[in-house]
Amino acid sequence: MNRFLDVISEEMSAAFEAAGYDAKLGKVTLSNRPDLCEYQCNGAMAGAKLYHKAPIAIANDVAAACKDSKVFSSVEAVNPGFLNLTLKEAFLADYVGQMAESDKFGLPAAKVPQKIVIDYGGPNVAKPLHVGHLRSAVIGESIKRIGRYNGHEVIGDIHLGDWGLQMGLIITELKEREPDLPYFDESFTGDYPKEPPFTISQLEEIYPAASEKSKKDAAYKERAMEATFKLQNGVRGYRALWQHILHVSVSDLRKNYEKLHVDFDLWNGESDVHEVIPGMVEYMKKEGYAHESEGALVVDVKEETDTKEIPPCMILKSDGASLYNTTDLATIKDRMEHIIPDHIIYVVDKRQELYFTQVFRCARKTKLVKSDTLLTFVGFGTMNGKDGKPFKTRDGGVMRLESLLQDIDDQMYEKITTNHEVPEEEARQTAQMVALAAIKYGDLSNQAAKDYIFDVERFTSFEGDTGPYILYTIVRIKSILNKYAAMGKDVKQAKILKPGSSAEKELMLNITGFISMMENAWEELAPHKVCSYIYDLANAFNRFYHETKILQEEDEAKQAGYVALLELTKEILETCIDVLGFAAPERM
Ligand code: ARG
Repeated sequence: MNRFLDVISEEMSAAFEAAGYDAKLGKVTLSNRPDLCEYQCNGAMAGAKLYHKAPIAIANDVAAACKDSKVFSSVEAVNPGFLNLTLKEAFLADYVGQMAESDKFGLPAAKVPQKIVIDYGGPNVAKPLHVGHLRSAVIGESIKRIGRYNGHEVIGDIHLGDWGLQMGLIITELKEREPDLPYFDESFTGDYPKEPPFTISQLEEIYPAASEKSKKDAAYKERAMEATFKLQNGVRGYRALWQHILHVSVSDLRKNYEKLHVDFDLWNGESDVHEVIPGMVEYMKKEGYAHESEGALVVDVKEETDTKEIPPCMILKSDGASLYNTTDLATIKDRMEHIIPDHIIYVVDKRQELYFTQVFRCARKTKLVKSDTLLTFVGFGTMNGKDGKPFKTRDGGVMRLESLLQDIDDQMYEKITTNHEVPEEEARQTAQMVALAAIKYGDLSNQAAKDYIFDVERFTSFEGDTGPYILYTIVRIKSILNKYAAMGKDVKQAKILKPGSSAEKELMLNITGFISMMENAWEELAPHKVCSYIYDLANAFNRFYHETKILQEEDEAKQAGYVALLELTKEILETCIDVLGFAAPERM
């Protein structure tokens, strides 16, 4: 189906043409005076210059040409030359009815389906997930789903940080604590133990301890760097230990992401492209892209039009070690060889923007990507506490994602069980669903690039612009539909009718925005557009609900019309929360 505004713009364009003016002037927009009309067209104002005529005269001509319109019930020319438009009920009901019958509510399939890699999550192995990783996971997951809904092939890649200094730090600390482990015995040739020499909680204690020590003790840091070097160069015991770290950490990460309903197609890490690096470096040297600078190997990426300095992209340090850049570039090379995406999207903290500018420029300059491969950086802002500073635990420590989720689950459980008798298991499950909605919606309803305040009280409220409010609205609709079915009537047979009240019309008008919203959300990689759409839709529904007797309605056809509209509203809301990455319970 075509976007609703395009359909009514076409009608307006025909009217301009019929009145002897350029059809291009017929663009219709949402009214900025909803008290006066539903839509407006300002084409007569623009036409005034073109035709050397008073705008109101043009507007009057166009209004007259709309006399028999099937789309508009009223087209009013008002001074100085605006056209105020109101829709015909039958036309609106027809469009909404078509949406209900169409696959994806009429969203057209992508004209050119693209293959896209989305790089998000980006946790670091052996470091506990903290709230900073939440945003990448939540936003990335939603962008992935929005892309898929729009008909693209989107491949999510977690891009684990599994190869850097943190690995050397852990190995070094383990060696200090348990020097007799076979991993540290270079003469050992037997099989290493199958069981890891630590649990996840030990691992999570070891890393910060090691990191702390390395800041104070230069010799310790030196040893950690050496351990990293040995690991990367394949020392057997270190590789075996690293496998354990990876294994223990990744199983824990999987559990955490599962709880968040975040699902990656690829669990690749920095380590996976380790072997791509030497060839890539050779190539960059041979082609003359990379040159030496103070011992290091760099690629210049500054451009004449730059207004601020963009430093060269460093490929190898003076000691020959590779860097974060190097792995990202090697990953691009690897993706271009094995996946051949049209577009790679990175969902990363916006403080890494300059870094990605360098990486993208370097990838283009060195032709690691094709000239038409898109590279996009979606930078997100910081999640702050109510004090406006980065979100912390009560005692000022880094908040672990797990504890945050557990906290909110518990609060939701309290809320759900306080005034209701709910079986324990259902209450727990519902609490988890509502908590997830609270967290994700709280994040996604903000423009990604902005910092936002993680306000648990506000996010978990059942009222206002929140996830729980949306879920509550869906549950309310489900309950009415269930009662309708219990009356022995069939929702599937119900057909949408002309709206009988302004609240019903308003609800339908909100529904019509779905297609353009979903396309825009993808074009702009902007989940917040989905949020603001469903917030308006939920409000419109609730107004309709409060003003309308649905189950008590005696006119069967009229009641069926309401029910069909409810069903459509519910399906749209459910589709939207699904692309946001959460779902609604049956009851709450
Ligand atoms: N592991 C990185 C960090 O915690 C994020 C990775 C982002 N993705 C990337 N391709 N560089 O900062």
